[in-house]
Amino acid sequence: LHSTLEEAKRVAAYRAVDENLDYANHRVIGVGSGSTVIYVAERLGQYLLDPQFSIYASQFICIPTGFQSKELILTNGLRLGSVEQYPVIDIVFDGADEVDVNLQLIKGGGGCLFQEKLVSTSASKFVVVADYRKRSPKYLGTNWVKGVPIEVVPTSYIRVLNDLKTKLKCKNAVLRQGAPAKAGPVVTDNCNFIIDAHFGEIEHPEKLHQDIKMLVGVVETGLFIDNASKAYFGNPDGSVEMLV
Ligand code: A5P
Repeated sequence: LHSTLEEAKRVAAYRAVDENLDYANHRVIGVGSGSTVIYVAERLGQYLLDPQFSIYASQFICIPTGFQSKELILTNGLRLGSVEQYPVIDIVFDGADEVDVNLQLIKGGGGCLFQEKLVSTSASKFVVVADYRKRSPKYLGTNWVKGVPIEVVPTSYIRVLNDLKTKLKCKNAVLRQGAPAKAGPVVTDNCNFIIDAHFGEIEHPEKLHQDIKMLVGVVETGLFIDNASKAYFGNPDGSVEMLV
């Protein structure tokens, strides 16, 4: 039995795949990270088992955005490829922590961030799959109050924390901790650390992204600017809303 939240994630993912996957022409497919993308991989796996689509789906090559994503691809019987082998991706489906009215995103709540951006910016089309809680009424930083995730080189984290506060007027910035599962910081799939930086409501996400990116030690920010093509939001009642 699925909760309504899980159902919301599932309907958004299924609809996004069904409406955007050009199964006869799309071959290289990015599969993102998080709890909503689970249903994207599930749907792609169903295409593989359906006699009507299997001839096409057996040609799919799925590009992961991290370890969890790689597992999803494999457990659904899909073929795994790497972004090094396939630097040009036809379409990517990925979740988001928040989506604003202009389709700008905050991502990285699940600790995957650099690889997600590498894959999503390598794709011709990026479709966001999310539940209704992710849709911001206006600015980023309204619903998602845990801050902007920033992936940093481990030795630089003190420097970045200081620079965020002094140079970028960041209200509060913290090194993400792995507790209770791990004592000490979260380590990303790329062996980096994550800083969660609080800026309140973000009126100019592009400028903020550029300013953070300029700090020494920053690998990538969780602000995904002018990257998504559309977003699907599942509702608890099973309906889906789309934002373009
Ligand atoms: C992973 O670091 C994130 O960017 C996820 O894509 C994002 O947190 C969405 O995850 P859910 O689908 O679990 O909300």
